Amino acid sequence: MTQIAQKTQNDQWTPDSWRSKPALQLPTYKDQEALRHAEKTLAKMPPLVFAGEARKLKAQLADVANGKSFILQGGDCAESFAEFSASKIKNTFKVLLQMSVIMTFSGRMPIIKMGRMAGQFAKPRSTDTETIDGVELPSYRGDIINGLEFTEKSREPNPDRMIQAYNQASSTLNLLRAFAQGGFADLRKVHKWTLDFVGETPLTRRYETVAAEIENAIGFMEACGLAGDNAPDVMKQTDFYTCHEALLLPYEEAMVRTDSLTGEYYDTSAHFLWIGARTHQAENAQIEFVRGVKNPLGMKCSPDMDPDQLIRLIDILNPENEAGRLTLIARMGAGNVEKGLTPLLRRVKEEGRKVAWVSDPMHGNIQKSSTGYKTRRFEDIMSEVADFFAVHKAEGTHPGGVHVEMTGQDVTECTGGAYQISDNDLSSRYHTHCDPRLNANQSLELSFLIADQLKLIQKK
Ligand code: PEP
Ligand code: CO
Repeated sequence: MTQIAQKTQNDQWTPDSWRSKPALQLPTYKDQEALRHAEKTLAKMPPLVFAGEARKLKAQLADVANGKSFILQGGDCAESFAEFSASKIKNTFKVLLQMSVIMTFSGRMPIIKMGRMAGQFAKPRSTDTETIDGVELPSYRGDIINGLEFTEKSREPNPDRMIQAYNQASSTLNLLRAFAQGGFADLRKVHKWTLDFVGETPLTRRYETVAAEIENAIGFMEACGLAGDNAPDVMKQTDFYTCHEALLLPYEEAMVRTDSLTGEYYDTSAHFLWIGARTHQAENAQIEFVRGVKNPLGMKCSPDMDPDQLIRLIDILNPENEAGRLTLIARMGAGNVEKGLTPLLRRVKEEGRKVAWVSDPMHGNIQKSSTGYKTRRFEDIMSEVADFFAVHKAEGTHPGGVHVEMTGQDVTECTGGAYQISDNDLSSRYHTHCDPRLNANQSLELSFLIADQLKLIQKK
């Protein structure tokens, strides 16, 4: 174990030990009294998720680390207070279900579903301030911190927003749990998961073909006696987990609870927490915070991550080498996967570190469109995913999942795809609060590509 990792391990962890470390990307709250009040209020709230659920997810993620399963992580770049509605949650959930059924059926692989939902509110930014027409204001950092509107009042970090975020996360989770377990996700309803507004498109037709085949298979199983009460639970409901970037530490600390069964600490704001590409320095406060909670963790790996740095971070985040504890999320950018990912895969494999590898084909592929929008080209996203599979094949490692920014809404934020969204189309339905998302059709198209790749693995 490296020296820094050893030292970190020996240091006592407490939910607030991050406070003595250098913290990046945290807002400065002017009203410290209001901050303390919000933290105290949150600390008394019920947990959003339960330790047992996080443990169950960790066990499922261990299967990914062992090459037997695949992760689908998806949702908004930044959830917003203004865009909060039951139909938006339902549509995103539906698309995630459709994607997962395509991958399970055509790719023959169990899929673990995690929504960037019910807590994905805080955003890291490349600059602290933004200047428009000579006026300089603090950058927007996500609705849990400040408002998107470009006014002094809205951009001022406000700790009360943490309470609103908690309440929104709580009702989002309530609905997600109902959808996942209350009959909506029943595989026998696979035809009903399509979105009303999308209508008939080549992709929805392709989906209908998969759905019809699934219905046939279920019909056969029912005829064999697995109908009604005899139908197994896996057919009638699904597991759905939540995840977000562990960035805003006052909020995350306030959501830590001790599990009554094991006496261990869990961050009950989500099942799975990840560390972003801007806050993964070994000495950093975000790393200090997550190392002490028992949730399964993720960490983004960008092209500038070198193998020594990665091993040092793995030492800190997963000192017991527990499969399922750590998922590495590679966001290299199209064209950079082989060069950026190969040395990391090799080193992790050589050292026998048990991790799951996921591709985030979004964050290395941001561009400015000719019409001035922050966008991503669908072909870059597809190409990064294809290269991710190719590099794993070459190294004999398991491509364990994808992490995408997507929505069930019919937005025009990423260019390309079967409907050839052009730079000029972006203005028609560009709604994201932060990064451009795949729309429903683009999400389905991507999942067909992944299903084809998964099928190849199965044939090995
Ligand atoms: C994100 O996932 O929204 C994000 C900011 O990613 P990254 O840390 O990889 O840039
Ligand atoms: Co993003």
